[in-house]
Amino acid sequence: METAGAIADLDRRFGIPGIASVVEGNGGLPKVRITSPQATGEMYLHGAHVTSWKPTGADEVLFVSTQSRWEDGHAIRGGVPVCFPWFGNKEGDPKAPAHGFVRTKAWQLESITQAGEAVTVSMFAESDANTKNWWPADFRLVYRATFGSELSLELVLPNTGTTSLRFEEALHAYYRVGQIEKARVRGLDGVHYIDKTDGNREKNQQGDILITSETDRVYLNTSSTVELEDPVLHRRTAVAKDNSRTTVVWNPWVEKAHSMSDLADDEWQRMICVETSNVADFAVNLEPGGRHTMKAIVRVAGF
Ligand code: BG6
Repeated sequence: METAGAIADLDRRFGIPGIASVVEGNGGLPKVRITSPQATGEMYLHGAHVTSWKPTGADEVLFVSTQSRWEDGHAIRGGVPVCFPWFGNKEGDPKAPAHGFVRTKAWQLESITQAGEAVTVSMFAESDANTKNWWPADFRLVYRATFGSELSLELVLPNTGTTSLRFEEALHAYYRVGQIEKARVRGLDGVHYIDKTDGNREKNQQGDILITSETDRVYLNTSSTVELEDPVLHRRTAVAKDNSRTTVVWNPWVEKAHSMSDLADDEWQRMICVETSNVADFAVNLEPGGRHTMKAIVRVAGF
């Protein structure tokens, strides 16, 4: 945890008066707070989690659990955790932290800049002795979140080493919905997916996705924009993407939610994860000297 003095120092170095400040967030963790003409937002240095985005005139788009832990070593339950360099459990290493190690690690603030009426917060995470326990590569992973009338999330990895890198990645976004059973996910009709709730069987999506039970699916070889239609909150959230060939859709439903200590028993009804990603057979191979950028662009419109 940063001391109040260290947080004030970050604010002096990176804050933009009236637009962006670094303040103490939940659990005493430092967070960047954005108040720009186009949107308000929040991003923690812990895990580089974006925890809030509210375009002007709209309600909060992201879901964060009331039971989330806010401490080193634990991911925030909600917002947009960053999964890297593996997704889910690490193959052949059951002790490795689920979804990789960057979501539970303090990132460094690199810059906060104004881009017209939007604001971009840039953070980076570097390899250290701890990350090398799990993954041997030297790396400097950069993440840029632009808070404006759209939310743009960009994860950038250059390979500055001499060997090729293979990794998985996901922007594990939790969206707030009025009532999960009434929500609908469009844009994946006809796409093959791995059903993690049914022994990883491969299936084919027919029509829109309706959530009627625990749902944990990796949609394969798809670059499509996914649209989340919510007739209760009267809005459509569109998630477009670049350089991402898988989309994960997750809702824990009743039993799994009950088994999770950082999710209130009824909160599964008000969230859904739609994750821009490159996982499973679509893991990224990055040659020395190469650079990989995956991007998610979120827009919301009322109806
Ligand atoms: C999803 C996975 O992305 O994340 C699920 O597909 C997993 O299998 C879920 O249960 C939550 O993971 P965690 O580690 O944050 O509890």
